[in-house]
Amino acid sequence: MCGIMGYIGPKDAAEIVIGGLECLEYRGYDSAGIALAEGHKIGISKCVGSVANLKTQLEKCSLSGKMGIGHTRWATHGGVTRENAHPHVDPDGKVVLIHNGIIENFHELGEEFAKKGVRFVSETDTEIAALLISSLYRDDPLLAIREACGRLRGAFAFVILFADIADRYYCVRKGPPLVLGAAGGEAFCASDVTALLPYTNNVLFMEDEEIAELSAEGIVLYGFDGLRKEACPHLVDWDASMTSKGTYPHFMLKEIEEQGSVLRRTLTGRLENGVIGLEAEFPFSEDARLFRRIHFVACGTSCHASAVAGRLADRYTGLDVRVETASEYRYGNVICDKHTLAVFVSQSGETADTLAAASLAQARGARCLAVTNVVSSSLGREVGSVLELRAGPEIGVAATKTFMGQLAALTLLTLWISKRKGLLAPQEEKRLCAELARLPAKVEDILARGEDVRKIAERYKGLPAFLFIGREASYPVAMEGALKLKEISYVHAEAHAAGEMKHGPIALLNERMPVVAVVPKDGIYKKMLSNIQESRARRAPIITVASRGDEDIRRFSNDSLFVPETEEEFTPFLTVVPLQLFAYHLASILGREIDRPRNLAKSVTVE
Ligand code: AGP
Repeated sequence: MCGIMGYIGPKDAAEIVIGGLECLEYRGYDSAGIALAEGHKIGISKCVGSVANLKTQLEKCSLSGKMGIGHTRWATHGGVTRENAHPHVDPDGKVVLIHNGIIENFHELGEEFAKKGVRFVSETDTEIAALLISSLYRDDPLLAIREACGRLRGAFAFVILFADIADRYYCVRKGPPLVLGAAGGEAFCASDVTALLPYTNNVLFMEDEEIAELSAEGIVLYGFDGLRKEACPHLVDWDASMTSKGTYPHFMLKEIEEQGSVLRRTLTGRLENGVIGLEAEFPFSEDARLFRRIHFVACGTSCHASAVAGRLADRYTGLDVRVETASEYRYGNVICDKHTLAVFVSQSGETADTLAAASLAQARGARCLAVTNVVSSSLGREVGSVLELRAGPEIGVAATKTFMGQLAALTLLTLWISKRKGLLAPQEEKRLCAELARLPAKVEDILARGEDVRKIAERYKGLPAFLFIGREASYPVAMEGALKLKEISYVHAEAHAAGEMKHGPIALLNERMPVVAVVPKDGIYKKMLSNIQESRARRAPIITVASRGDEDIRRFSNDSLFVPETEEEFTPFLTVVPLQLFAYHLASILGREIDRPRNLAKSVTVE
């Protein structure tokens, strides 16, 4: 949460910092700000709202510099005001600082300063960090930063300018991510590698408790103990063109439409000639027979993909399966030991709750695997063993193509474990592999009929709430459909296991509350039909997501979205696509800010 960009070099820092912030805006867009240093003079501009507002504001003033830091905020402490926007400055104007994270002891520290007569300008937890560093600064910036970090509790990524230092700036990481890059007399920092791709793809992911000094000479790394550390850069195989919207009106639509190719990439090399092979990526293959439990732990959309995988694991692995939201897993008394395979699923690999849950499982001796789109993310590095999604950068706040990548990666993983345990017969493996290989074309077939979904969305645009239902693997798909709809259209949507309707939610139904039923032709189809009938009897309009060729379903539906037939195990790969499109089109009809929904940020780096 919050996007950070920093630059030093021969070019105009404003242009580079603003460009970076535009790229990072999916991390927060409540307010934005920039500090530009021209020699020892630091000018600051900040505003409420988007980076576009900041850009317009900057064009009207004469700020410039060859060193600059910028911030796009997702508010935690303090409302969305100009005063609370970053950068923050100490009263003497010695230290200018931007921050991502939460400083937990800012009240206590604030009281100390208040007793000395300091008056705070903002309501943020950040201002205290600028004050503290300034109060500890004599002539050694590194020492002041280290001493301040020793007093601050919580999670923070800082980028800091010192007014009397014109040729360097500093980055600090304890928790939230920071990525650095240096090339040809320039040195950059950003919250996410995507902002650095126009300049370099040879990047340095800061580790926890590190301080970096960035100058035209490059990057020097220190630990919180003040000792120099060796920098180990990574080559990232993404390029800047992957982060462009191209001719699409929104990143979300572009990413939905990429799902066929994402699926192909995720399966490539892991599925050959009817055989699944994960030897190279799954380090616990030899231990598979010793596993007793498999835990899938994640948040949001990643948790929905995990819930689909959980049902497959129930069916194929013979393991005790647990699927848990990361923020709950951490606090429960979970049995998690060396007989447990703990799978942490995260698109970004930076979600604070998922990271904390992974640390807990590692400490308890579980075999841990990260399933992520960003191999070099904090999760990837913390866990060490990674199954990569290969979805390419996802910019839209609403996750779509990475859900598809997660379904594919988790399906392969689950079937691989089944195979290693001797539970997957070769014929069965062949049947499933053949169908997995057909799925990308089937996804593309649904996408080619996207306009039909738009027409249906048009018919429901005035309604205040939707109820999504499904059973077994279609239940997490219903949850994902409801999440997509509420995230980007702000229309109330909730999902229930279809069998639960009669235990309460059915009371909500009337002619203004459509039921979206995920009802592919599977073993539980007949039961779903009964639930649909019950909803119809309460006058709810029915939208069904059904298997193509199921003409009967039309009799029970006001509208139907059809998907190609597939093996029962794989229906979520297909049924989720019309739901993503439905959410997208409804939000577009309602004129919402689709790629930047209110109150949300793509990477949730606070707990
Ligand atoms: C998805 O549309 C959401 N924006 C959100 O639920 C997201 O899936 C969640 O925050 C988890 O993120 P992660 O996969 O990067 O860990």
